[in-house]
Amino acid sequence: QEDLFKNVISHAKEYGYIFGSSEIYDGLSAVYDYGQNGAELKKNIRDYWWKSMVQMNQNIVGLDAAILMHPKTWKASGHVDAFNDPLIDNKDSKKRYRADVLVEDYAEKLLQKAQKEIEKARKRFGDAFDEEQFVATNDRVKRYLGQRQEILSRLADSLTREDLKDVKALIEELEIADPETGSKNWTEVRQFNLMFGTKLGASAESSSDLYLRPETAQGIFVNFSNVQKTGRMKIPFGIAQTGKAFRNEIVARQFIFRMREFEQMEMQFFVRPGDEMKWYEHWKEQRIKWHYSLKLGKENYRFHDHEKLAHYANAAADIEFDFPFGFKELEGIHSRTDFDLKAHEEHSGRKLRFFDPELNENYVPYVIETSIGLDRMFLAVLSSSLIEETLEDGSSRTVLKLPAVLAPTKAAILPLVKKDRLPELAQKIIDELKWDFQVQYDEKDAIGRRYRRQDAAGTPLCITVDHDSLEDNTVTVRYRDSMEQKRVKIEELYTIIKEEVDF
Ligand code: GAP
Repeated sequence: QEDLFKNVISHAKEYGYIFGSSEIYDGLSAVYDYGQNGAELKKNIRDYWWKSMVQMNQNIVGLDAAILMHPKTWKASGHVDAFNDPLIDNKDSKKRYRADVLVEDYAEKLLQKAQKEIEKARKRFGDAFDEEQFVATNDRVKRYLGQRQEILSRLADSLTREDLKDVKALIEELEIADPETGSKNWTEVRQFNLMFGTKLGASAESSSDLYLRPETAQGIFVNFSNVQKTGRMKIPFGIAQTGKAFRNEIVARQFIFRMREFEQMEMQFFVRPGDEMKWYEHWKEQRIKWHYSLKLGKENYRFHDHEKLAHYANAAADIEFDFPFGFKELEGIHSRTDFDLKAHEEHSGRKLRFFDPELNENYVPYVIETSIGLDRMFLAVLSSSLIEETLEDGSSRTVLKLPAVLAPTKAAILPLVKKDRLPELAQKIIDELKWDFQVQYDEKDAIGRRYRRQDAAGTPLCITVDHDSLEDNTVTVRYRDSMEQKRVKIEELYTIIKEEVDF
């Protein structure tokens, strides 16, 4: 699994998907740039989301709110007071850690120990091995797993109560050491706000403190009445938005899984109070269907229903994805009640209500939110598509089996040789296709090598122009996944590509 993850990271760089930010200056931690292929894949994921949320739903409209917002926004939303991570410093090494992550890593080690015992036993017993029975009866495994469970629930409990003394006590009790130096000399645990601050205005006296938005959602809430009135929207209706969000993450690891600058795709669905559970279930179902439609493998997804809820929510679930480092949150679906709109009413003094003609009543709507990280979705797509295949002749090929609808390049147009007017014909084909599809020209190296290069870059179709093409206007189409080839007329290419990339 670790190797798979390393492969994904190096493949992403080699094929122009993702580079570290400002790499020539040795990079900036947890900030990344998307290269020539990455920019296309990211745009295609965003478009696919936008189409299914906005274009396909008559009662959902889009919005593009600013990253900078009035500072009162973040007081109202609760981010100034409660958007914190618990931090701890090691007094000897002066290194800073997230206290909850230190404890989680310790619990993870217990899980690994249990897994080691299970693997040892599997080897010993061979075919006769019954894992369930072993886990239920082996004392050592039971102890590891039980202890892990207890630690995690104590941690969750103290974090929900925001009782940081208990987290510190847990660290001391477990004798957790600084992973780099082994020192167990810790400070108290304290809260650290995750918002990036900046200043508005030129002079020190007149400038005011601003934050870079840590979520896109608040831009939707503060525009609720603008959109509802000008769009004459009737409840239930939704507002969707994609855009950058910023969080000063302390433990920023796992590549583009946890970044300091990232992009969210969020939709707030405004409903009648009392109807929220119906819509919550509706959006859970819709969102998992959206994921399944990409055919990355149903087994890679699972729901995680939250038992402990944030102060503003009355129900919440994550859609988790099986990343190369295990199942982790990809998307959240939250029933946020009327918390946000009410808070903005209070802080702004403006009414954020809807007059419901059926009920003949004014109310603050309830909100169901779907929130997915675009970069996380990118990682899910990339990591589950990268495949090392052994072919019939025993050779192997690296192929990026991206869903065709998301692939950066839909077709590569390849002249068999660099002469005899084949490049000119290939270019003519490109000119005919390029308004409708992202297509690419490639004439370097032998045709087999070019096919492999396109396989690894994720291009679903290769179109080869040869000497017969000049005579009869036909070309060879090769399919990335099956490696099947067929001879077709040049004028059929539009329909063939369209069929391949359509949903
Ligand atoms: N408006 C709700 C909200 O922001 P969240 O669970 O904090 O909820 C929603 O974030 C989604 O945004 C997550 O499921 C994840 O996909 C993505 N996300 C959050 N923090 C991220 C980070 N540091 N890097 C990349 N994606 C992140």
